[in-house]
Amino acid sequence: MTGATRELLLSRIRDVPDYPKPGVMFKDITPLLADPAAFTALTETLAELCVRQGATKVVGLEARGFILAAPVAVRAGVGFIPVRKAGKLPGATLSQAYELEYGTAEIEVHAEDLGADDRVMVIDDVLATGGTAQASLELIRRAGAEVAGVAILMELAFLGGRARLEPALRGAPLESL
Ligand code: PRP
Repeated sequence: MTGATRELLLSRIRDVPDYPKPGVMFKDITPLLADPAAFTALTETLAELCVRQGATKVVGLEARGFILAAPVAVRAGVGFIPVRKAGKLPGATLSQAYELEYGTAEIEVHAEDLGADDRVMVIDDVLATGGTAQASLELIRRAGAEVAGVAILMELAFLGGRARLEPALRGAPLESL
């Protein structure tokens, strides 16, 4: 990714103070999505990563990860697999629970969508604590597939997600743009 592309993407992320609660600075990607030059540049950058890593499938993490991952899959010429919050997928699922700051959450994937021939790139907008991405890697491996890497638009480095995710990556790259 060029410096100009990075600047373009950065300029299209809006800081929203005190959302969703006081003291939180929310990183809003809707201005980036609304700008065709920025959204295209992001899609192409992520698609190049997928091709470079030999990905056969792209996993998007609900919900904002879907918006980024679906055009990347089309651009890279590979399939798109939604990893959804529990209870949203109609078929036979694999489920993975993970720790939040307070309590737990659970994500699911259709078991038949991934198999031993797949190398999977996980795409999401934000890496915060790393819990969601870590759980998605568990799901991918439990489905019998290989992890090609994790590609994230923004990493909130102060929350330590990279360190939490590192063991689960098992050498696969974590790229944050
Ligand atoms: C956000 C973000 C990531 C996740 C990162 O999703 O889009 O998926 O949190 O957090 P973590 O690294 O601490 O796991 P959120 O659950 O807010 O859902 P949304 O995309 O549906 O808004």
